[in-house]
Amino acid sequence: MPKGSLVIVNTCALYRDGRFFADPERFDPDRFASGWEKRIPRYAYLPFGGGPRVCIGNGFAMMEARLIFATVAQRYKLSLEPLEEIEPVQLVTVRPSGPVRMRLERRASAPLSQATGGRA
Ligand code: HEM
Repeated sequence: MPKGSLVIVNTCALYRDGRFFADPERFDPDRFASGWEKRIPRYAYLPFGGGPRVCIGNGFAMMEARLIFATVAQRYKLSLEPLEEIEPVQLVTVRPSGPVRMRLERRASAPLSQATGGRA
């Protein structure tokens, strides 16, 4: 490979490789359950890149995502609006091509003050 070449890893194909991810087309968040990293080769999953230029925000981003998800999901049940279709777009990360309309239902166990962080 010539010096200075731009190399892009096709993560979309990598994450659908059955050698590393069983039944890769299935939506299965549990595949990331505790200890999953040990079951695949080190660079089979690299949302933050790898090597010397690995993302320095990795730990922060993962913590932030968990906190946001835990805070929202404790208070609300989220479901996709009927007929809403999501078209995935592969950039550095996979994202929807446009806004995703979701329905939020307050969970019975979450009082109004908790659901709004005390602002209602
Ligand atoms: C889900 C969130 C994020 C994802 C998926 C992500 C992903 C990535 C990827 C793929 C790279 C390129 C690695 C490479 O060149 O091989 C990168 C680099 C970088 N990221 Fe992130 N990132 C995220 C959040 C953040 C946050 C929150 C920060 C800062 C607080 C950050 C700061 C950086 C910096 C400074 C680099 C360049 C590192 C270098 O070239 O030495 N990222 N990120």
